[in-house]
Amino acid sequence: MRHLPPNQADANLLVGLETSDDAGVYRLNDEQAIVQTVDFFTPVVDDPYSFGRIAAANALSDIYAMGAKPLTVMNIVAFPINKLDKSILAQILHGGSEKIREAGALLIGGHSIDDPEPKYGLAVTGIIHPKEVLSNATAQPGDLLVLTKPLGVGIITTGIKRGLVSPAAQSEVIGVMETLNNGAAKAALEAGVNACTDVTGFGLLGHLHEMLKASGCSAEVDAQKVPVLASVWECIEHKAIPGGTLANGRFLEDKVNFAPEVTEEYRLVLVDAITSGGLLLSVAEEKAEALLAKLREYDTPAAAVIGRVQAGTAGKIEVSYSA
Ligand code: CO
Ligand code: CO
Repeated sequence: MRHLPPNQADANLLVGLETSDDAGVYRLNDEQAIVQTVDFFTPVVDDPYSFGRIAAANALSDIYAMGAKPLTVMNIVAFPINKLDKSILAQILHGGSEKIREAGALLIGGHSIDDPEPKYGLAVTGIIHPKEVLSNATAQPGDLLVLTKPLGVGIITTGIKRGLVSPAAQSEVIGVMETLNNGAAKAALEAGVNACTDVTGFGLLGHLHEMLKASGCSAEVDAQKVPVLASVWECIEHKAIPGGTLANGRFLEDKVNFAPEVTEEYRLVLVDAITSGGLLLSVAEEKAEALLAKLREYDTPAAAVIGRVQAGTAGKIEVSYSA
């Protein structure tokens, strides 16, 4: 995206490419702006129905990360029409449609192509008041950082492919990925946060780095306070690490400073490339208790203060591990 020519100046473009935010926002009038995003990928789990639910929840998440309400949705489908049974595709789309309905959005179309490797996702249009847009570029020094889902999803789904994860732990990680971020977004709007993004392919520290860079701040994270799915540790022990997670680690090498107490295992989890992760919220300290109470009320998979935003080199992260 960096290599594209810049957009023509347009005062109604509220969020574009510049801040690596989760979705684009375009003002229609003083009361309304549309929020647009698209996301699709190859199966992360074997079960097509679960894959559909996860892909839809993941695509809708970028709308929630802007504080918006999803309105309309288009399916994006790639499928080997002559190689796989069409009932598999029907299950993927069924799972997706359930999540779209749960989000209160309408499926109004889509496009499919014949492709050797199945892929599924959504293009989503949402709506928001122009003054209520949650950006990733407005974190303030002193803010507390709050995470709404546990980490470990990328490593555990890799572990599932290698037969390392028990059925109960599999259901747990699928349940986390399938959970919409609507409750987290509602809590963020009601409590009033300064900045928001969702945690996906760049991992917790990658998305935090983007938020800090765009906001002109640094941060400290306490690894011990970060919620983590328990089945991740055995997967790491058996070296079930996704390529994307290792790539995130390399990209962040000069941007993150780990204290010696932070183990290699924790370093991997903090940069794990995630599908359908939670929201990362930057909230003023005096509003943090109210936010955590709202997150618990809306039953988000996690509600944890994991660190603090600071005035410092933009994008820099210090990771400690409190005893
Ligand atoms: Co996002
Ligand atoms: Co996305």
